[in-house]
Amino acid sequence: MEHVPTDSGLIEAHGGQLVERILAASEMEQFEQRHSDSQKLQLNADQESDLEMITTGGYSPLKGFMTEAQYRGVIEKMQLPGAILWPIPIVLSVTPERAKAFQKGELIGLTNQSGELIGELKLEDKYQIDRHEFAREVFGTTDEAHPGVKKTLEQDEICIGGAVRATALLCSDKRFKQYRLTPAQTRSYFARQNWRRVVGFQTRNPIHRAHEYLLKSALEIVDGLLLHPLVGQTKQGDVPAAVRMSCYEEILQNYFPADRVLLSVMPAKMNYAGPKEAILHAIIRQNYGCTHFIVGRDHAGVGDYYGTYEAQEIFDDLPEGSLKIQPLFFEYAFWCKICGNIASNKTCPHDAENHLFLSGTKVREMLAEGEDLPVEFSRPEVAKTLKQAYSERG
Ligand code: ADX
Repeated sequence: MEHVPTDSGLIEAHGGQLVERILAASEMEQFEQRHSDSQKLQLNADQESDLEMITTGGYSPLKGFMTEAQYRGVIEKMQLPGAILWPIPIVLSVTPERAKAFQKGELIGLTNQSGELIGELKLEDKYQIDRHEFAREVFGTTDEAHPGVKKTLEQDEICIGGAVRATALLCSDKRFKQYRLTPAQTRSYFARQNWRRVVGFQTRNPIHRAHEYLLKSALEIVDGLLLHPLVGQTKQGDVPAAVRMSCYEEILQNYFPADRVLLSVMPAKMNYAGPKEAILHAIIRQNYGCTHFIVGRDHAGVGDYYGTYEAQEIFDDLPEGSLKIQPLFFEYAFWCKICGNIASNKTCPHDAENHLFLSGTKVREMLAEGEDLPVEFSRPEVAKTLKQAYSERG
């Protein structure tokens, strides 16, 4: 049964209703019985994280992996049926052999990497996708050097679609358990705190001072902040989620008022789709109950595939009313030696030679060399945590 939490006063979920697809304890016996001899499909890490996003309501209004009609609408018009905005397909690809064995209407048991039964899919549709079209439409490129394109081209081209359910085990068994709040849980936290206006922050990097500047600037105009790091799969070279979590804990302990910030993890994978992913990230945060969402420079970008502000510009082209959450756009922020603070070209008159900002690559190089990150870039507590993590890695 679908559980629709009531949370009057908070922003509505995308598409109107928060859709939860977690099996209740009372349904578990029947669930196990009906899967005693069902066909099973083992999910990879990305698919498992999609399952978690769907069943906890982070991807509302999706009830399952996309059918062909949903897929085509998203690829061609960025829309689900009903003209609901949706920028990136959420598909479940399977090998042709497995696809052949699955019949429409069948209930397929979904297992995790350890082979445990964590959910089910009622097969509605089997279809073939054109992976190059997917890459072109979602990432704006078919260059295999792009990490999102590479994954897309590597996946099987047969997809199965249909509604899913998952067991509570799916989330309870995971890393960062105390931070793994579902949309219903963050919503009820905001209601308890009486936060009417909540800004959501997506991040996949260790927190630096430009991030902190964005967060604090936004906090000045809202009631609370959802610090919502992505902990699904990221590309090689990105700082591991566990290290990043220690950095977020450090900065919250030392530089933010405890009653204004909720730290919680966001289980989705990183696509590196720049502008389209910025829209997806905003939709997700609306589902978690945020009214505002920060989009800075090159949001969800990688390499030079997207322009610095492309992920902001895309919001201007959306049909009126297609998104309830309000994006807050920020200019490229840096440390200015003359101002003696973090600033942007909107607030600082000095030449670029006075500005300091380190790229992710430069930060990793410095850490690999055992160098200290400058206080203008990183709070000392965060710099220390990162340095230690890199030295332990060897
Ligand atoms: S992202 O892939 O999740 O976008 P990151 O964690 O670096 O990467 O960024 C989180 C958010 O902060 C994004 O909205 C990004 O645009 C913004 N951001 C990061 N660094 C800066 C900066 N120096 N100036 C302005 N915005 C920034």
